[in-house]
Amino acid sequence: MSAQFEYTSPVNPDAPEDSLEARAPYIDNGTGQVDAERYYSREFMDREWRRLWTRAWLIAGPRADLQEPGDYFVFDIGRESIIVTLDDDENVRAFYNVCPHRGNRLVLNDMGCTSQFTCTFHSWRFGLDGACKTITDEETFRPGVIRERPKLTSVKVEEKAGLIFVNLDPDAPPLAERLGLPDGYLEAYQLDKMRTVRHVVSEWGANWKTGVDAFYEVYHLHAVHPQTATVMDDFGTQIDLYPHGCSRMIVPIAKKSPREKDQTTVDPGLEYMIAEAGMDPAEFQGDATTVRKAIQTFKRERADRLGLGYDGLVDGQLTDSWATGVFPNVQIGLHPEGAFLMKFMPHPTDPERFFYDTITLYRSVDDPSFKTPDWMGLPEGTDVSGEVRPDKEFVPYGEKPDLGLVLDQDSELLPVVQKGIRSRGFKGPLWSEQEIRLRHFHRELDRYIAGEK
Ligand code: FES
Ligand SMILES: [Fe+2]
Repeated sequence: MSAQFEYTSPVNPDAPEDSLEARAPYIDNGTGQVDAERYYSREFMDREWRRLWTRAWLIAGPRADLQEPGDYFVFDIGRESIIVTLDDDENVRAFYNVCPHRGNRLVLNDMGCTSQFTCTFHSWRFGLDGACKTITDEETFRPGVIRERPKLTSVKVEEKAGLIFVNLDPDAPPLAERLGLPDGYLEAYQLDKMRTVRHVVSEWGANWKTGVDAFYEVYHLHAVHPQTATVMDDFGTQIDLYPHGCSRMIVPIAKKSPREKDQTTVDPGLEYMIAEAGMDPAEFQGDATTVRKAIQTFKRERADRLGLGYDGLVDGQLTDSWATGVFPNVQIGLHPEGAFLMKFMPHPTDPERFFYDTITLYRSVDDPSFKTPDWMGLPEGTDVSGEVRPDKEFVPYGEKPDLGLVLDQDSELLPVVQKGIRSRGFKGPLWSEQEIRLRHFHRELDRYIAGEK
């Protein structure tokens, strides 16, 4: 592809090649069109189950959700349910949430802490390592039936940068062969120092890929989220594509959109950003073009003073949105103060529904000058100490997820887009170079569906 089509320029043209900010080499995924049928057909959904969900590495949750031996949480994917737990030796383990006796679901709540798992049907007991500890009335079983003492069926599990990944394929290659992000990229954010402070799952009327697609570009900001125009550069975005369907976009924040006519006035949106960072807008001297840099300098000094260890982060990471896609169904909004882990979970039976599963991770800082950033949209009174893992909130279909204005706007839009995609009049998406992350994601999906991975 010729350079004239590469619309993005680096956010920092001076970034050295080995910097985490450096622009990745362009990956040319062509100009082909995918069939719209993948967004609504049951047949495609079944293929995804057989070829994608049961074969790809999937982010189950943050490692921080398991603190003590016996802590566990349940990760549901399609019709399957997986228990992820920490055993007595503090190894992360994963098992199908199924009792080997007669198939009852073993764990019925979302999370907890236990020394063993007891089945509610006939009280068989299993250790944190999955071994069968007790069979009720064992003497009434003929030895042939329980000769191999039935264990929980284990699932492959790996940890990376404070995240727990599982894979339902016992023959899956190691995660390192499938996660295409640059070395040290996720680690730089120290997700292991953060804690879950909010977990909301809402059900939306769209295919899970309609969800991924919408969150993988900022091309729609001017139309759907016009309020962001004075504080986000939706056109100076740097887009990086990585192997195995991973990608990211760096969206400069505290910088006006080039679509704005007035590029210099510090308007209420930018004043808000200045105040939100902890500075006084009344004392701010520069014009709109200097706000982003001033916030970076302020945050850098504060981090040094409080010993927050931002040394591994470049200035852009202190202000900008580094939205990072982990194939197939996760995007993480990465910030030094916290991270927003978004999982686009397929509905078990309906291709036109998905679960938007969001975890807000926050790194608690013991200093009165330090406030939780507003992008987190945390309700008044949220406990951000990280001492107690909050319960998962569920927002049923049709209700607003209450995750802030931007996400409310997306949740209203997506079911409408889904209806249009399903029309006989729609022939499949036409992606611009602002939407190459979508093309990159679908190309990788196609490789799984074709059985190439
Ligand atoms: S099904 Fe679990 S003990 Fe019987
Ligand atoms: Fe959006």
